[in-house]
Amino acid sequence: MKQVIFDTDIGIDDAMAMLILHYAPTVNMIAITTCFGNASLANTTRNALFVKEQFGISAPVYAGANESMGEPLGEGFPDFVHGKNGLGDIPIIEPTIQAEAIPAAQAIVEMVTKQPGEISIVAVGRMTNIADALILCPELPSLVKELIVMGGVFGFREHQGNVSPVAEANIAGDPTAADVVFTSGMPTTIVGLDVTHEIIMDTDYLELLRSTAGRAGQLIYDTNQFYFAFHERINGSATCPIHDSTAVAYLIRPDLFTTKQGPVRVATKGVALGQTILGQEPNGYATDAWNGLPACNVCYEVNAKEVLTLFVETLSAGDKG
Ligand code: BDR
Ligand code: CA
Repeated sequence: MKQVIFDTDIGIDDAMAMLILHYAPTVNMIAITTCFGNASLANTTRNALFVKEQFGISAPVYAGANESMGEPLGEGFPDFVHGKNGLGDIPIIEPTIQAEAIPAAQAIVEMVTKQPGEISIVAVGRMTNIADALILCPELPSLVKELIVMGGVFGFREHQGNVSPVAEANIAGDPTAADVVFTSGMPTTIVGLDVTHEIIMDTDYLELLRSTAGRAGQLIYDTNQFYFAFHERINGSATCPIHDSTAVAYLIRPDLFTTKQGPVRVATKGVALGQTILGQEPNGYATDAWNGLPACNVCYEVNAKEVLTLFVETLSAGDKG
């Protein structure tokens, strides 16, 4: 059983990922840590508590960062993607439960220190909480079993960024934090747009989830109406990529992905702000920006059909009550 901390800016696609983690038979979600991103920290934390309460999820919720560590690309929250409330503006029943008293970064450090080498972190928002945890505990890279990040884009198969030609939203929202995390030596796999833009949901797939996955399928269906409308406006077709759940798919079935290894740096200034750049030159470069840095594991190919099947099977086998 994998012990997992879910770090999230929940978020329409984050909510689906959280439900997959909850229902996956090989996963024990031990905590949910929240960050600003798709909405304010107050809204993402409320959304985590809402999903926790509605689905009887036992993992405690810890609120984390409410602003970026360094210069972000753009400002404000993407309410045109996730709605003003972050969950596609569906009516949200105000949770009767609360977040824990200690902040997310401290909670991460305490949990990982208690169970060294045992805990995986799936981080699907800005990297700010993880970078804050690294500042609190520089030994964190040797204590975490693995970090799986949904973020970035490397240009494999001609995939481009979603907030600039070279930048993806989670990394662009706090490039400095991402650079701190990716160069820290933590065993890290990056699940970027190169693979999440291969995992495409259409309206038939959404209907399938609604008809087979009970209340989870209904929540995914309801929240995604807003997400589909956004993607239809920009792409002209009623389809959208499934980002955050694809990082969960890597946790459960890494065999469905192909990866490359190398040091990853993030542009923290200038026109390429938020770009993730993988170094793959074994003999080194003329700049020490990559030379000698620890490698990350970067996904560049995925078995999309199997990943889509995994989501349906996991959600459909869950509690339908
Ligand atoms: C990422 O940005 C957010 O909008 C999504 O939740 C996902 O984590 C995709 O770029
Ligand atoms: Ca997210």
